[in-house]
Amino acid sequence: MIKINEHYLKLQASYLFSNIAKKVGEFQKSNPDKEIIRLGIGDVTRALPQACTEAFHKAVDEMAADSSFRGYGPEQGYDFLREAIVKNDFQSRGADIAADEIFVSDGAKCDTGNIQELFTQDARIAIPDPVYPVYLDTNVMAGRTGNFEDGRYKGIVYLDATKENNYVPGLPEEKVDLIYMCFPNNPTGSTITKAELQTWVDYARENQALILFDAAYEAFIRDESLPKSIYEIEGAKEVAIEFRSFSKSAGFTGTRCAYTVVPKECTAYDARGGKQAIHPLWNRRHCTKFNGVSYPVQRAAEAVYSEAGKTQAKELVTGYLKNADLIASEIKNLGYDFVGGDNSPYIWIEAKRDSWEFFDMLLDKAGVVCTPGAGFGKCGEGYIRLSAFNSYANVEKAMARIKKALA
Ligand code: MLT
Repeated sequence: MIKINEHYLKLQASYLFSNIAKKVGEFQKSNPDKEIIRLGIGDVTRALPQACTEAFHKAVDEMAADSSFRGYGPEQGYDFLREAIVKNDFQSRGADIAADEIFVSDGAKCDTGNIQELFTQDARIAIPDPVYPVYLDTNVMAGRTGNFEDGRYKGIVYLDATKENNYVPGLPEEKVDLIYMCFPNNPTGSTITKAELQTWVDYARENQALILFDAAYEAFIRDESLPKSIYEIEGAKEVAIEFRSFSKSAGFTGTRCAYTVVPKECTAYDARGGKQAIHPLWNRRHCTKFNGVSYPVQRAAEAVYSEAGKTQAKELVTGYLKNADLIASEIKNLGYDFVGGDNSPYIWIEAKRDSWEFFDMLLDKAGVVCTPGAGFGKCGEGYIRLSAFNSYANVEKAMARIKKALA
């Protein structure tokens, strides 16, 4: 008799963003004339930078001729992209990362979800609350938690990110092995300073722990004193893996390209307490389960680092940040407390009521989709997230409608 993985039965009924899409679809069906503005899921709306589409087209043409056609590429990514990444994203900021420490992939969601399989079943996992749901759900699927009770899974060490700690969790009281972090944060939009991040790196070094650092939103950092990469922090290469994405920084959500950095010095321990490098293990996993990102997509990603690509990608991000500024100032005028929106595309708002109730009210009265904070964890109850990924005109319209709905 074939038996299912019982751990899947512990999961909440559906993935947060699928649940929201379903609700919005039903609402649209019963209100076909109502124009809906989506400030929910963090999905980009503006076209790819022109430099990227030009490189994309050119690479597709190469695929159309036998003489320049390419079949399977290197699983870890083409050298042209890995070299452009390290030069522009790390070495230019004083972080000493080498091209062969980069693993190109089709998304930070997959990488942050898959990385956990390298570690033991009994690893003590620390996960912030609220947080992007993938970190938690993938550990539930893998059987590292008990049941869901009172809004939380048994066996996880939750790191509360609340107004009291400025949405940056402090070190855990108990010893943990694997620590998920995300800055600029999804969903709160909060940022971490170099000094704060240093305390986490020091903790990981002292406790033989590993940090999984999701930096998918680094392109939104305007404050130059803030770290864009964990490798700007002393000692981080030994104890941290970093995840990056072209999705939000260059509009690649539908194109799919991201990368993970696994420094050669980064280690975990085997059953006898010996140090094992993580790099060859992730490489082994990548080669076995992944066949690389398509050649035209990698050429499009490489173009993000051309002079024109840099300017155009920056323009995209600046446009979304302008939306974020508008959302933040309108929310402030409405008298709501919030965080984020300055170095992040997300604005995390204290809703002063049940977060799903607020979601329903905004959809019904304003035709605006937000993300209910409760979907990101117990500490998200009472909050909603607004995303700046839309056109400025739509954001203006959405904020005018929200103002009316809350009046
Ligand atoms: C979000 O809205 O939190 C993100 O868009 C989800 C994702 O990047 O997968």
